[in-house]
Amino acid sequence: MASVPSLASSVNQRVSDALASALPEAGGADPLLRRSDRADFQANGILALAKKAKANPRELATTVVGSIPTGDLIKDIEVSGPGFLNITVSDRAIIETLAARAGDDRLGVPYAADAGTTVIDYAQPNVAKEMHVGHLRSAVIGAAMVEILEFTGEKVVRRHHIGDWGTQFGMLIQYLLEHPHELDHKSDAEVSGEEAMSNLNRLYKASRALFDSDEEFKTRARARVVDLQAGDEQTLALWQRFVDESKIYFYSVFDKLDMDIQDADVVGESGYNHMLVETCKLLEDSGVAVRSNGALCVFFDEYKGPDGNPTPLIVQKSDGGFGYAATDLSAIRDRVGNLKADTLIYVVDARQSLHFKMVFETARRAGWLNDGVKAVQLAFGTVLGKDGKPFKTREGETVRLVDLLDEAVERATSVVREKDKDRGFLSEQEIVENGLQVGIGAVKYADLSTSAARDYKFDLDQMVSLTGDTSVYLQYAYARIRSILRNAGDRSPVAHPELELAPAERALGLHLDQFGEVVTEAAAEHAPHKVAAYLYQLSSLFTTFYTECPVVKPEPELVVGENRLFLCDLTARTLSKGMSLLGIRTPERL
Ligand code: ARG
Repeated sequence: MASVPSLASSVNQRVSDALASALPEAGGADPLLRRSDRADFQANGILALAKKAKANPRELATTVVGSIPTGDLIKDIEVSGPGFLNITVSDRAIIETLAARAGDDRLGVPYAADAGTTVIDYAQPNVAKEMHVGHLRSAVIGAAMVEILEFTGEKVVRRHHIGDWGTQFGMLIQYLLEHPHELDHKSDAEVSGEEAMSNLNRLYKASRALFDSDEEFKTRARARVVDLQAGDEQTLALWQRFVDESKIYFYSVFDKLDMDIQDADVVGESGYNHMLVETCKLLEDSGVAVRSNGALCVFFDEYKGPDGNPTPLIVQKSDGGFGYAATDLSAIRDRVGNLKADTLIYVVDARQSLHFKMVFETARRAGWLNDGVKAVQLAFGTVLGKDGKPFKTREGETVRLVDLLDEAVERATSVVREKDKDRGFLSEQEIVENGLQVGIGAVKYADLSTSAARDYKFDLDQMVSLTGDTSVYLQYAYARIRSILRNAGDRSPVAHPELELAPAERALGLHLDQFGEVVTEAAAEHAPHKVAAYLYQLSSLFTTFYTECPVVKPEPELVVGENRLFLCDLTARTLSKGMSLLGIRTPERL
């Protein structure tokens, strides 16, 4: 179905046409239209235009007003202040536009005109290591960006750049070689994520202890790194076992997070091994990187250490080993050259910003990134505990992600159970299912409702609160509307453009009409929090509407009731679509 132009864009078009014909020599101008409290919209662009054309702004505004027909779309337009325009749209235009949205599966949201291919690097835990809240943020923000971009027609390639390579594997592999049954599974029965992680933890601790206490083991472990890098078959087979065991664990966490991660998209650091030598050669031959004390380095004027000396990006260490940077540079070559990306997004902790600045700049100098390709780090802030310090357990250890998620679900389940106690509306099974959707939704929403760059406090009490800017509040709003619709008897949602609207109906309607613009903006600015803010406001406007405008009881006149049910229905659909873009479910009964 065709996309539906928003009222804002239609009004904008009218005003800019009028501006162009009032002052043809100025060659058009942006009316700078925004939503306003005084009228539906205010246009402020005349001031700048008048200044440029050396005209009197109020006079220009008056001419423009005179040339804009009122009736169908614009009900009222008047000059205010030094030359602003206050614009009120007609009730008919609101309902007609919303009816067109309701008639479309996509709610009239347009596809981006300049859609291309984005490779998004997100949800990248590390092999043989526990996942923590940082990995949660990357997964949640990344998954929301994938949904938002795909909804606007972008081709999205997911890349889970897991940490599956590095010197730490020498120790692990050597230990497993010497204790060959340590990763054996007791039976053919499926191993749970929990078990897989505890196996890996046990092995990690045991091998670490040996590494620190036994010089000979240390030597053997170091030699094993060389074998791994040389591609020795037996060594690789053992390495693969760590990767496989870790994947069991990763997938169990992603599953808990209600997130669909495909194996084919997991291309970890090891996936670029075959490119590393060439990447370094290209950098060295072109002079982008130079040898410094044996290491291959890229220097930047603007990045200096605390001692004032330049901090280089080290592409290859003096012992010949490749690091994180060589892998990321090779990944850029793959993503641009083979996957044909025109946008690269990295959903990674802000503390890695310097690394990405240097990597992107290096890739530009090498010509792997050119003007046709945009590379951005969607950097996220730190998750803090209630005390405002980076989130740790009481013992000072990193908090295990699974524990957090389990606790969120537990809390959410009791919130759902408590709320239902006097109603007895839900079955036990529904309480359990809703508890999952509310708990996981709460964690995701808390992460997505402030801009990614900011730190936020992980506060479960606040996250599962029924009031305020939480996902539970939005989920209840959705379920409430669904129940209104179920209980509407023989009345059904029908749009009636001939009706005069109450202020709360207009406010809700105008907001519903903005959904497409919000999605477009969130996609272009990589800002999922804009969708969250929009949905929260939508629920608030719905609450006001529902308080002021009876839908079912006291029963309004038939057409009015039908039109209100229509607004209810479109609100529910918009809420549900918006929440799904954020990866959050909306239970039908709650
Ligand atoms: N595995 C890394 C970590 O846990 C994140 C990887 C980010 N992606 C990348 N292409 N470097 O911090």
